[in-house]
Amino acid sequence: MLLQTLILGTLFLVQQIQADSSVIKCDAENKCPEDTPCCSSGGECGTGVYCLGSCNPAFSFNIEACMPMSIFEDSRFTFNNNYSSKVLDSNTYLGDASKADWTYTGYLVDYPDEDSMILAMPKDTTGTVLSSTRYLWYGKVSARLKSSHLAGVVTAFILYSQVEDEIDMEFIGSALNVVETNHFWQGVLNHTLYGNITVNNSFDDFHTYEMDWQEDYISWSVDGQVERTMFKNETYNETTGVYQFPQTPARIQVSIWPGGDASQPQGVIEWAGGAIDWDSSDIKDNGYYYMVLNELNVTTANVPDGTVQNGTKAYVYTSEDSFLQKDVAIVDKQVYLASEKDSGLDPNNSTSSSSSLSKSSSSSRSSSSSSSSHSSSSSHSSSSSSSSSSSRSSHSSRSSSTHSSSTLGAHAFSNSTNSSSVSFSNETSTSIYTGVDINTLTKTSSSSNGLSPEQSTGFIQNMKTTGQSRLSAGDGFALMRNNGILKVVLAALWYII
Ligand SMILES: *[C@@H]1O[C@H](CO)[C@@H](O)[C@H](O)[C@H]1NC(C)=O
Ligand SMILES: *[C@@H]1O[C@H](CO)[C@@H](O)[C@H](O)[C@H]1NC(C)=O
Ligand SMILES: *[C@@H]1O[C@H](CO)[C@@H](O)[C@H](O)[C@H]1NC(C)=O
Ligand SMILES: *[C@@H]1O[C@H](CO)[C@@H](O)[C@H](O)[C@H]1NC(C)=O
Ligand SMILES: *[C@@H]1O[C@H](CO)[C@@H](O)[C@H](O)[C@H]1NC(C)=O
Ligand SMILES: *[C@@H]1O[C@H](CO)[C@@H](O)[C@H](O)[C@H]1NC(C)=O
Ligand SMILES: *[C@@H]1O[C@H](CO)[C@@H](O)[C@H](O)[C@H]1NC(C)=O
Ligand SMILES: *[C@@H]1O[C@H](CO)[C@@H](O)[C@H](O)[C@H]1NC(C)=O
Ligand SMILES: *[C@@H]1O[C@H](CO)[C@@H](O)[C@H](O)[C@H]1NC(C)=O
Ligand SMILES: *[C@@H]1O[C@H](CO)[C@@H](O)[C@H](O)[C@H]1NC(C)=O
Ligand SMILES: *[C@@H]1O[C@H](CO)[C@@H](O)[C@H](O)[C@H]1NC(C)=O
Ligand SMILES: *[C@@H]1O[C@H](CO)[C@@H](O)[C@H](O)[C@H]1NC(C)=O
Repeated sequence: MLLQTLILGTLFLVQQIQADSSVIKCDAENKCPEDTPCCSSGGECGTGVYCLGSCNPAFSFNIEACMPMSIFEDSRFTFNNNYSSKVLDSNTYLGDASKADWTYTGYLVDYPDEDSMILAMPKDTTGTVLSSTRYLWYGKVSARLKSSHLAGVVTAFILYSQVEDEIDMEFIGSALNVVETNHFWQGVLNHTLYGNITVNNSFDDFHTYEMDWQEDYISWSVDGQVERTMFKNETYNETTGVYQFPQTPARIQVSIWPGGDASQPQGVIEWAGGAIDWDSSDIKDNGYYYMVLNELNVTTANVPDGTVQNGTKAYVYTSEDSFLQKDVAIVDKQVYLASEKDSGLDPNNSTSSSSSLSKSSSSSRSSSSSSSSHSSSSSHSSSSSSSSSSSRSSHSSRSSSTHSSSTLGAHAFSNSTNSSSVSFSNETSTSIYTGVDINTLTKTSSSSNGLSPEQSTGFIQNMKTTGQSRLSAGDGFALMRNNGILKVVLAALWYII
């Protein structure tokens, strides 16, 4: 109990350190204001990318603010043939799922030797998150992958919804014969349902990991063998009459992150298998820790009986009060935003009339949302231009350069071919580039096809001169919150305690 208090205290402190007075925070009690209506998973209000991905409708201005969610069809993704060039930057992606199946933050490396793509974690970074652009509402998702290894390094393969329903498979680098499985309902963990399954070396060998998520059960499999099943009827809460079971549309995320970084709370470090060694053989030989993603399949399930289906394109929530299966409908609403200034309240607002644009620049309040792509020096507009990443922007200002060009240059495995390409991005989008090199940013992010190797190289040069973020408590938390991994970590803490 004392430990719990200490940990909560630490969390609180981290939040305080991260706090930036110009950032509008959001939670269950504090919904976002109308001009920055979307609550990001990091608990901050904004427009644009804040309204996509893990935008939380329960904490946003209203349920219209977060964009409708693109619907998965049955899919097979093979991460070969220069796949990284097809993955878009999460920090600039505005919702058009026809442009890409995946977005990312962090570091992707093509790995032709194994017809795969690497999710990398260079020294002192927060790693990489790959997120589907579409949402699954029940179905099976299976991934053929090799996890990362060594103490403090975590690989995660999860389903994560806007309201924090979550289903997990996680790999701790110090226990390569274990996959930790887990599920959450609206961010609440029933930790009696926490469980490990065994696998024969998740790092050296590819295995196929599957989460089969149906209306009334979840099962977790390795190499086609169901290892664990839990039923919805086991999650009934007598007090509320609610099944505390994941039941809302979720994105697929695959990630690598540093649970064992010194900036993490001690409980997290222990859960992650101990302190991470930023001078390990992986860092020396390759320039980064890594996990290898080969293939991923999605098989959708039938739409639940009784669902309102007014269309076929997107999931929306229909209630402000509860975010359960019954509150999801299927509609034909627009899923993308015209610009960073827009939100689900009016996805084309910025393009709808020129008068609204000129009006916005004259009003300091609305300039916040119109400044997203500019390096304005006004404190208000910069806070909101980076609104898509505000808490992270506050920590990036504390960062210092840690990457030498040789570290980044050594991206390819020693025996992989020259055709490997690297894409580098950054945790934060606009904020990072603000005042840095807008040309490089524009070039990079305007490529509808992702980053070409040339552009990546330019970007690496840019990173080299502008500095790379060191980890800090803030980084770790921004990453975790952003990933939906915070809950996993908290669960781990509780478990340990
Ligand atoms: C994906 O589906 C294909 C075709 O059914 C199958 O051959 C492959 O093994 C599957 N891969 C994974 C990771 O489930
Ligand atoms: C799961 O495996 C991890 C890593 O070996 C271990 O630390 C943890 O105690 C295990 N949890 C359970 C519930 O067995
Ligand atoms: C584990 O995998 C190794 C190859 O990586 C294999 O030699 C061994 O037989 C496997 N063990 C079991 C129990 O499957
Ligand atoms: C839950 O449902 C499963 C499958 O329908 C059934 O086998 C099991 O007995 C049920 N358990 C409870 C606690 O009702
Ligand atoms: C938590 O899990 C236990 C064990 O399956 C179950 O008995 C209990 O009802 C669950 N509670 C909730 C609220 O899900
Ligand atoms: C059931 O819901 C009530 C009210 O939200 C909550 O206080 C309680 O902890 C829940 N029970 C379980 C087992 O999660
Ligand atoms: C679906 O269509 C009906 C009939 O037009 C309408 O009343 C309802 O509000 C619509 N629901 C949604 C979520 O669009
Ligand atoms: C938004 O603009 C696009 C492109 O001009 C157009 O196709 C779309 O119908 C507009 N959407 C709405 C909701 O007006
Ligand atoms: C549309 O843009 C104008 C001008 O920027 C702004 O004042 C207004 O709040 C926006 N409306 C919506 C619904 O986004
Ligand atoms: C390097 O190549 C060898 C032999 O072709 C192969 O066994 C090994 O897995 C490769 N290692 C890496 C890291 O690519
Ligand atoms: C990877 O894709 C990009 C964009 O399509 C292309 O410019 C580049 O030449 C490709 N690289 C390789 C090695 O195929
Ligand atoms: C992102 O870019 C900012 C600004 O250049 C930099 O300070 C920060 O270190 C970078 N973060 C990562 C994780 O690369």
